[in-house]
Amino acid sequence: MNMDDSVELARLLRGFGLSEAPAADEADLIHINTCSVRKKAEEKFFSFLGIQSIRKRKTGAPVIGVGGCTAELIDIAVGHPEVDYVIGSRRPADYADRIRATVAARFPELTEIRESFHAAPPEGPVSSFQTVIRGCTNFCTYCVVPRARGAEASVPPEVAAREAEVRIAEGAREIILLGQDVLAYGEDLNPRLHLLDVLRAVHNLPGLRRLRFVTSHPRRINEDFLRGLAELPKVCEHFHIPFQSGDDEVLKQMNRGYTRADYIDKIRLIREYFPDASITADVIVGFPGETEAQFENTVRLVEEIQPDQLYTFKYSTRPGTRAAEWEDDVPRAEKEARLARLIDLENVISRAANRSLIGTEQEVMVNHRVNGARFRGRTRSNKITDFKSDRELELGEIVTVKISGATPHALQGERL
Ligand code: 5AD
Ligand code: SF4
Repeated sequence: MNMDDSVELARLLRGFGLSEAPAADEADLIHINTCSVRKKAEEKFFSFLGIQSIRKRKTGAPVIGVGGCTAELIDIAVGHPEVDYVIGSRRPADYADRIRATVAARFPELTEIRESFHAAPPEGPVSSFQTVIRGCTNFCTYCVVPRARGAEASVPPEVAAREAEVRIAEGAREIILLGQDVLAYGEDLNPRLHLLDVLRAVHNLPGLRRLRFVTSHPRRINEDFLRGLAELPKVCEHFHIPFQSGDDEVLKQMNRGYTRADYIDKIRLIREYFPDASITADVIVGFPGETEAQFENTVRLVEEIQPDQLYTFKYSTRPGTRAAEWEDDVPRAEKEARLARLIDLENVISRAANRSLIGTEQEVMVNHRVNGARFRGRTRSNKITDFKSDRELELGEIVTVKISGATPHALQGERL
């Protein structure tokens, strides 16, 4: 979502007459789009802000803007006189006036060239993120998002379709619809709608070849949804569906609203409808009070589900959450050991899952030219694929690749 917001900010700033600098240290203006979901992201922000503040004290540049979740949680202006403007975590366009005012004041010479920049539409990525619902009120006890981003706000389908058209005009051939809990889409609209409604609104736009959505909360997966998806051929068979823990007691303390058995049932259901679906997930180790035995339940869940990829995180205390009231009592070394164990296990599983594709033919969308005859793309199941082609390919083109090799994180092959 931050990547999508950053692209939107870039559009906005281009409209004000700015253009991208080759490197942060050469920029006249830096907008820092913050994330507060884990402590590490926040630490990275403060260290980057420190470096740019030193440059500013020495040279007067850059103009510094800060936006996103951390700016909602912490009063950035206090103690950071180098920061010129602060915006929150709603869509960047909602703060256009504030940003425009700063840009106009700091770069008065820009008014003259503003028009010419409008004329040249930028080239965007072939695979583009697009936020369709912001915010979350699930209140998982470890998670700061409900506090940082507030309640769900969905983008109506007709607005989403227009925004998708902009991305397609910029070169997008694949769109990934985003939400912290994307399956909550439409519940805040009147009349109430469903994620399927916005998928349908975007699905048939000319030029679009693939459609994805992320992140799915296990609680909201049901047969109506899967049946609806099956009627939308551009929607790819990939479900990012975090389980966070494989232990019922921990899941309860996390306020996730499902048990380990419920989760397994949901995955079974998905695989019934889409046998080739890839499943990826997030998991947290070292939640307050997590015992060795409870962690073992997570290991067993991973073994049972066999996810195609696993995103593993060490629990970190986030201010203002329920879990922050509980002692962060799993020692750091123990968290690291648990993390390493899951990563090792996942490498074995992903390697086996990828190796099972050797010899098959996969539909791959090209998203990167590595060099000469070598390209990189993704399968419908979202697996990175490096391949050779004896003819020139366009980014966004879909080709058939015969898979001849596999590592835990990628496939290798040749275009047929
Ligand atoms: N500590 C560690 N990981 C967290 N996540 C969210 N909050 C925390 C936290 N306090 C992880 C979850 C979520 C992903 C985006 O970040 O796994 O799915
Ligand atoms: Fe956070 Fe839970 Fe909402 Fe995901 S579903 S954003 S983990 S509160």
